[in-house]
Amino acid sequence: MDSGLTIRPARIDDAEKIFALVHLHRDELIVRPMGDIVKNTDRFLVAECGGRTVACAAFAILPEFGSPVRAAAEIQSVAVLAPMRRRGIGARLVGELLERIRATGVKEALVLTFAPEFFGRLGFREIPKTEVMHKLYTGCINCTKHADPFTCPEKAMVLRLP
Ligand SMILES: CC(C)(COP(=O)(O)OP(=O)(O)OC[C@H]1O[C@@H](n2cnc3c(N)ncnc32)[C@H](O)[C@@H]1OP(=O)(O)O)[C@@H](O)C(=O)NCCC(=O)NCCS
Repeated sequence: MDSGLTIRPARIDDAEKIFALVHLHRDELIVRPMGDIVKNTDRFLVAECGGRTVACAAFAILPEFGSPVRAAAEIQSVAVLAPMRRRGIGARLVGELLERIRATGVKEALVLTFAPEFFGRLGFREIPKTEVMHKLYTGCINCTKHADPFTCPEKAMVLRLP
């Protein structure tokens, strides 16, 4: 754990640093246009160390037709700069996002990820992608790397939030 590390809600003047972090990890994350990052500033957390932005993470609420209380929250854009990894920063960011999601009353967090070991350590379990079709239609449909989400190696994972 880094003693000089601060995790805080993003502000509008973090947008360019978040954009750079997400684009740096474009092989593992869905890239986001600046307008999307700015529009969702209040859904992002950033981690700073020595005055430098070293990590970010965000969430979004995914509505369910006909049953608003069944909305899930998707964990998005989790990126930690390579030299800062394996110090607990990613786990702290996701932990704080989960607290924010709990505060909304949403009962389930989900993620589509190339880092299943990381999310497994945080209690997420793998589920079939057919259970997250709404996520495939909102995110994966715009993917520029894989034409078919069912052959893409990303894993769908969920965590119940009691
Ligand atoms: C995945 C990622 C966010 C993890 O961030 P991190 O700060 O290194 O993670 P933490 O240090 O909090 O790791 C917590 C635990 O998760 C597990 N873990 C983390 N990275 C792992 C990896 N690459 N392989 C296997 N287990 C891993 C470990 O058990 C770790 O605990 P330990 O270090 O005590 O063994 C980071 O590697 C990253 O930014 N990757 C590129 C972007 C990405 O894939 N994001 C996730 C998609 S949403």
